[in-house]
Amino acid sequence: MSIIISPSVLSCDFANIQRDVEMINQSDADWFHVDVMDGVFVPNISFGFPVIQAIKKHAKKPLDVHLMIQNPDQYIDAFKEAGADILTVHYEACTHLHRTIQAIKAAGMKAGVALNPHTPVDFLQDVIEDLDLVLIMSVNPGFGGQKFINNAVLKVEQVKNLIHMKGSHALVEVDGGVNLETGLELVKAGVDALVAGSFVFNSENPSKTISDLKNL
Ligand code: DX5
Ligand code: ZN
Repeated sequence: MSIIISPSVLSCDFANIQRDVEMINQSDADWFHVDVMDGVFVPNISFGFPVIQAIKKHAKKPLDVHLMIQNPDQYIDAFKEAGADILTVHYEACTHLHRTIQAIKAAGMKAGVALNPHTPVDFLQDVIEDLDLVLIMSVNPGFGGQKFINNAVLKVEQVKNLIHMKGSHALVEVDGGVNLETGLELVKAGVDALVAGSFVFNSENPSKTISDLKNL
């Protein structure tokens, strides 16, 4: 099975968002990775509902929404309405993670949990069977264009083992500093989905860069 590619629109040109969304529509990409930051959980603010709705209006592929926000529970229905297909919350941002996961699924979305670089994979062992996606952060969240943290490769292997052991159907996605080199290491470790922001949008031919990642 080929790797799922989820280009991060955080690195797109927001003055030309429709153009960049169409580029992703026409490309080999599978999902749109949509990063929401609240300035509290992470030291940056990205965008909120109006921008997600604008992306959804043109997107012909699922929206893979990555919430870097504290206490996301109160916004779950609003993200569904804005067009999220997969909704990923951070382990570190949810006091009642099990409840949050059930609420995401009850709202009709796929449920994901993201782990910061310092959070062990084992912390997911009691919820892994309920998850559709595990997002391993390979940078500290908050910004595009950061350097890949190598330990993420080991974490992919660890979470794949956990998924296998527990009979979970969750996919494993990695986010941060992904390029052809780090992407290849992750593919060898068994990753299912790759997020790439600056590597795609700063390249000369973003659509070709997406194909190159897809063919890893
Ligand atoms: C970082 C975000 C990422 C970011 C990745 O906090 O979650 O999705 O857009 O950007 P690159 O691929 O440039 O590291
Ligand atoms: Zn992200």
